[in-house]
Amino acid sequence: MVVLLSLTWLLLEMLLSDWLTAVLSRDFTLKDIVQLHLLATPYPGSFKCFICEEADDNYSCNRWAPDTYCPKDTRFCYTHHRISSVGGSVAVTKRCVAQEACVSTGCVTHHGHMVCTSCCEGNMCNLPVPWNETTAIFSTKYPLNRESRICPSSATTITIIILTLGFS
Ligand SMILES: *[C@@H]1O[C@H](CO)[C@@H](O)[C@H](O)[C@H]1NC(C)=O
Ligand SMILES: *[C@@H]1O[C@H](CO)[C@@H](O)[C@H](O)[C@H]1NC(C)=O
Repeated sequence: MVVLLSLTWLLLEMLLSDWLTAVLSRDFTLKDIVQLHLLATPYPGSFKCFICEEADDNYSCNRWAPDTYCPKDTRFCYTHHRISSVGGSVAVTKRCVAQEACVSTGCVTHHGHMVCTSCCEGNMCNLPVPWNETTAIFSTKYPLNRESRICPSSATTITIIILTLGFS
């Protein structure tokens, strides 16, 4: 009787472990990845920028920039570069900004230093620093006058609908 019981137990355990493996080790699908991505990002269309205040140069700014998402009320990555009269970096500041902060991109001379400012749109797009008028520009992915581009939340809804249709 004892033997029979332990045999049954063994069989049960084997079945259970098979079942557990089947449940736990399913393949990662595109759906999982999309879901994880939606869970991991703080809001639709969220992005990151290199962020630093008055770093010595481009390298030390990027080197220590925190890896965090930009606030929801910002849309662009901003870079402010102060250059000495001999052409070396004096200070680099990089931030997440709203459009208003991007109206004065370009280079100006200020107290003997040249100051070049640039703005860009896109994840981590402010990797470089502007050194002259050529790169001290405001570059956007979408035309700014079309402010009524598909708003992020409806874009997400559409994506989810498409994905749901695609996977069902
Ligand atoms: C800025 O630094 C990054 C590396 O952190 C480098 O790839 C890039 O070329 C630099 N750009 C300029 C313009 O200094
Ligand atoms: C601007 O700087 C880039 C390198 O950063 C250089 O190739 C280019 O010739 C410069 N343009 C002007 C107008 O000085």
